[in-house]
Amino acid sequence: MSFPVRPPVSYKGEFPTYAQPAEITSYSIDHNRQVWFDDRELKYYYPPNGKDLYVGFDKFIKRDESIPEHIDTLLDALTNARQKASNPQLAQADIVTWRGIMTKIMCTPTTRNEPWMLRATRHKNTIYIEEQAMDEKKRNEADLPIKEQMQCYGGYRFETLCTLSKPPSKVQKGDPELLQRLNDSADTNIQYCVVVKTKLGKNSLIMGAEVDCSRDVKRVGEKSNPLQNYVELKTSRLIENSRHQSSFERFKLKKFWAQSFLVGVPRVICGFRDDQGLVQSVEEFKTMEIPRMVRNKPGLWEPVVCLRFANEFLDWLQTVVVEDDPTVTYIIEWKAPWHEITIRKESIPQPFITQRYIDGETS
Ligand code: A3P
Ligand code: MG
Ligand code: MG
Repeated sequence: MSFPVRPPVSYKGEFPTYAQPAEITSYSIDHNRQVWFDDRELKYYYPPNGKDLYVGFDKFIKRDESIPEHIDTLLDALTNARQKASNPQLAQADIVTWRGIMTKIMCTPTTRNEPWMLRATRHKNTIYIEEQAMDEKKRNEADLPIKEQMQCYGGYRFETLCTLSKPPSKVQKGDPELLQRLNDSADTNIQYCVVVKTKLGKNSLIMGAEVDCSRDVKRVGEKSNPLQNYVELKTSRLIENSRHQSSFERFKLKKFWAQSFLVGVPRVICGFRDDQGLVQSVEEFKTMEIPRMVRNKPGLWEPVVCLRFANEFLDWLQTVVVEDDPTVTYIIEWKAPWHEITIRKESIPQPFITQRYIDGETS
């Protein structure tokens, strides 16, 4: 069975409905990968006082990606949210997945050379989707040239340079944290995640997403929308010629937009770095204004194509991931020659949703 991927132009048309995303819950993961259902790892944005993205590369602490974590923390957060919520229905949806997976799906019709492999399973009428790390990709990352490893580090180091543990109103001139971060490295074990609910066309969606920082103190409650204060941090090559410009618009802006739009994060702050890893400028983009920056440019991406494609894809998924059984896993694959997305049942069934989730309790 397969899902044909047509040329982008064929996805033009009316926007499918996309509900305003709402935060259901949030959680923190500490240096030891222990999960806490609180905001201890939430960081606050504070403009960078340094430029060098390569400082601290030798002290970079990278999460051990050989330990598969599947969607465990997201599932635990859902169990926790259902126990706490007055309306446990809030933590139910047709599709449950990571935001990063939805970003990949949205970008599929206008992206080539970026294969992906997903696993899906249906349990109590909800489809859970996780990413199946591809062997090829893992190998490539390990052998990455040092320059690319440093660039990847630079993305995390920019987060260190732009964030503090306290809200901006509590920062004083000469605050020791400001001095400290000039030389701090990065630790990708530490994460702050939110769980949001929305709806694309007919399918309600719950997504887990890592949030880089907040602009202000987090307020929760019926009337407040904590999503509106979150900021996505990014780095990109300083734009010095038309090739840089076109690659920024074609690839970077599409991902910036898709990633933040999906979960209702309204601002993206991008540090533009030169080849020495120095941030030469910092620019803020409003997520909702990004599409306007590429509008009417021939051959570029369009939100409507991303959303209509994702909508059709999820509708199709509902018709093929049919067996309601967590021991049945479907493998969904997008790869060369980039004509279609294929689906097949995994030959060695291995549930990827945890038993404790199936049993309805956190351990
Ligand atoms: P950039 O933001 O500069 O790309 P995120 O921006 O999603 O919060 O991720 C933070 C950093 O993680 C990225 O910095 C990049 O360095 C690294 N990163 C994220 N996704 C990646 C991927 N698919 N491959 C390699 N590195 C990635
Ligand atoms: Mg992030
Ligand atoms: Mg980021």
